[in-house]
Amino acid sequence: MTTQMKEKRDSAPTAPTPIVQLEGVEQHFGPVHALGPVDLTIGRGEFVSIVGPSGCGKSTLLEIIGALQDPARGSVEVDGAPLTGPRRRTAIVFQESATLPWRTVVDNVAFALEVRGIGRKERRERARELVELVGLGGFENHYPAQLSGGMRQRVAMARAMSTDPDLILADEPFGALDEQTRMLMAEELLRVVERIGCGVLFITHSIQESVLLSDRVLVMGRRPGTFIDEVPIDLPRPRMHAALSEPSATAAQERIWAQIRAEAEVAMVATRSTP
Ligand SMILES: Nc1ncnc2c1ncn2[C@@H]1O[C@H](COP(=O)(O)OP(=O)(O)O)[C@@H](O)[C@H]1O
Ligand SMILES: [Mg+2]
Repeated sequence: MTTQMKEKRDSAPTAPTPIVQLEGVEQHFGPVHALGPVDLTIGRGEFVSIVGPSGCGKSTLLEIIGALQDPARGSVEVDGAPLTGPRRRTAIVFQESATLPWRTVVDNVAFALEVRGIGRKERRERARELVELVGLGGFENHYPAQLSGGMRQRVAMARAMSTDPDLILADEPFGALDEQTRMLMAEELLRVVERIGCGVLFITHSIQESVLLSDRVLVMGRRPGTFIDEVPIDLPRPRMHAALSEPSATAAQERIWAQIRAEAEVAMVATRSTP
């Protein structure tokens, strides 16, 4: 190597540490091998979705990254450091993320800030901004019981964003919503995530949703789940629903479906032959 080349290489900027880095992660529940081994890297600001048959270990993986359970094997690093417990800047959203029924929308969103000891004026200001951002402007003083399921899920989303996350873990967050609300929420989520620029791990049953939202879709095979395919989604951003009819989007959807279908068929046969 010439000196010049060497210098050039040494001064090249190093790639930023990924927000998530997993190696050889496995989970076992007694005799049940639930997950892995899986390797997974999520870049800063990258949107990665996981699709796969039910029971393959998707939620288990998400909970491991969220420090809600410890893996049986493997290493988990978040933000460049081994994960030792729940992190302040990791936000988790579930399908039925609970809202607090006795608090108004804005006070639900401000709750996480309150827990962190942020003053009333500041937290209400930040909460109002987020309420606006998720499309709930005008509903600040409503109570959860006065909202639809989709609106309550928006409250949960705004609350997840309130603590300035660098990583969002979402486990089928729109799973309980009707199709139209889902589509709107997906577009909403894209706007919010683009605005705050955090990494996202998104679990969904919907192939369409995964293609619309992601930079990369990982397909997980049946239990014990490992990644059987990785599909890059090369659609320009910002994206709206119409992007799904682009040729590269339909090709991605077909490729993902072909994999899922094969897995689901094997799983179905296995279930039938079980006494
Ligand atoms: N706490 C637990 N104890 C025993 N088995 C579990 C536990 N959590 C999950 N499992 C099993 O591990 C497998 C993966 O579960 P899960 O991660 O919830 O799948 P997915 O989210 O892909 O539907 C399933 O077979 C499930 O029954
Ligand atoms: Mg699950």
